[in-house]
Amino acid sequence: MQSTVLFVLDGQLVRLEFPPGGSLSLTTTLLQYLRALPDHRGVKEGCAEGDCGACTVVLAEPVGTGGLRYRAVDSCLLFLPMLHGKQVITVENLRDADGTLHPVQKALVDHYGSQCGFCTPGVVMSLFALYKSCPSPSHDEVVDALAGNLCRCTGYRSIIDAGLAACGEGMADHFTSETDPVIGLLSTIPKVSLSMDAGGQRYVRPVTLKEALEARRADPAAVVVCGATDLALRVTKKHELIRSILDISGVPELRSVETANGGISFGAAVTIQEVLERSTVPVPALADMLRVFGSRQIRNMATIGGNIGTASPIGDTLPVLLAVEAEIEVAGPGGARRLPIGEMILGYRKTACRLDELITRVFIPMPPQDAIIRSYKISRRRDLDISTVSAGFRLELDEQGTVKKVLLALGGMAAQARRATRTEQFLRGKEWSRSVVEEAMDILANEFAPLTDVRGSAKFRAIVARNLLLKFWVDTSASSHARRFAEVET
Ligand SMILES: Cc1cc2nc3c(=O)[nH]c(=O)nc-3n(C[C@H](O)[C@H](O)[C@H](O)COP(=O)(O)OP(=O)(O)OC[C@H]3O[C@@H](n4cnc5c(N)ncnc54)[C@H](O)[C@@H]3O)c2cc1C
Ligand code: FES
Ligand code: FES
Repeated sequence: MQSTVLFVLDGQLVRLEFPPGGSLSLTTTLLQYLRALPDHRGVKEGCAEGDCGACTVVLAEPVGTGGLRYRAVDSCLLFLPMLHGKQVITVENLRDADGTLHPVQKALVDHYGSQCGFCTPGVVMSLFALYKSCPSPSHDEVVDALAGNLCRCTGYRSIIDAGLAACGEGMADHFTSETDPVIGLLSTIPKVSLSMDAGGQRYVRPVTLKEALEARRADPAAVVVCGATDLALRVTKKHELIRSILDISGVPELRSVETANGGISFGAAVTIQEVLERSTVPVPALADMLRVFGSRQIRNMATIGGNIGTASPIGDTLPVLLAVEAEIEVAGPGGARRLPIGEMILGYRKTACRLDELITRVFIPMPPQDAIIRSYKISRRRDLDISTVSAGFRLELDEQGTVKKVLLALGGMAAQARRATRTEQFLRGKEWSRSVVEEAMDILANEFAPLTDVRGSAKFRAIVARNLLLKFWVDTSASSHARRFAEVET
């Protein structure tokens, strides 16, 4: 155990102690820390809740295959102990020593991609992360990299043009030649658990699952944190003093992805971006949903375990996990147990994970080949918005086109994401035809009593849910027609 947080900034090792009465608290955010330094004020605070990207910085970490992986993150949502073992790169680090602008900065100048300049450091850092991770991005990939950066005056076309021009140039820059020295510096940081007490707060960051479970058992009142995209808002928006924090983001066992036993499993601390990338082929409905989950910065920090842990009625993974019949592993003093996702979510922001347990893994069994699974997210805008209604639907038909199995899971329609079991029961054994589906739509609309809130009225939600079922019928009819055509042609 140690009480010093170590990370790399400006090519130097930074050691942070949290002495009593010092200016730093254990929940000081990276943004607050940087803004207090004399020469890192390029980073801006717009919203302090992950929505504007003005605070974007890049974190670099060694990867198993060699080299460093660069990720854009919102510094307003990162607590300082989460930086342990990482390199922090800010907009001030991008220029060469002789003052030559980095290719992404130069492209923004050349394409007139900045006016008032408030958003520009964040935009630069998002494009820098893309430059270092994607050799020749498409238009869509540039747009995706920028979806978490709000610019209110320049207009996105020139910014996107700058991204396309810069990122087509190859990935070489001064960071390329500095990779080995940075890896050398990072390797001097001990991979040990952190335990710190300061300002009436306690922060524990274990590096093994055993230690994490022991810490959980020892202090069940500690708040578990992983990506902090949900939790940090309690600090930045509600100004809450969280007394005790158990940060599980440094536990390697929780960050693994495994494909075995007819399925794929994700450790609870796997980020949403990695789940997206690893599920594209085996579980495309999950990847489709995650493409519209927050922004790149949020997906780089948020975790699948955290999304389940929030048990939010509009948590985007939940309807899909219900449709694929995922199982959730939780572990505690009595060992590990596995629960179907439907038994894991007990109510509004309430899970079956006990106070001495942690969510450890998510298992997704491979569905049979003839299963059709789709996900839908209805929100006020496509990117960086939370769902008004979301859905994970699954259908299996027999040879005659009769419904063998159907699972209809919805988010945003009740206090928790849940299945429409009455509608499913009605559909089972019936022909998958438009007239039957139209009858089912009425049952579905009456099966929930959604709330009216700023995102949509109860009536609107009921109509959306009905129409999503019709959309699913249209989509599945189209794909089963396509399959039949393919069979006829072969
Ligand atoms: C700007 C913004 C956009 C967002 N967009 C979306 C979106 O599009 N869709 C969506 O669904 N959500 C969205 N969110 C919410 C949030 O990003 C997700 O819920 C995310 O998955 C939470 O993961 P995390 O690791 O950051 O959780 P944290 O904030 O670290 O934790 C969240 C909760 O889960 C508990 N927890 C975390 N891990 C575990 C574990 N292993 N075992 C037990 N409990 C645990 C914590 O105690 C806490 O109560 C957004 C948030 C922000 C700030
Ligand atoms: S300040 Fe807006 S995302 Fe961080
Ligand atoms: S340049 Fe003014 S907000 Fe983007």
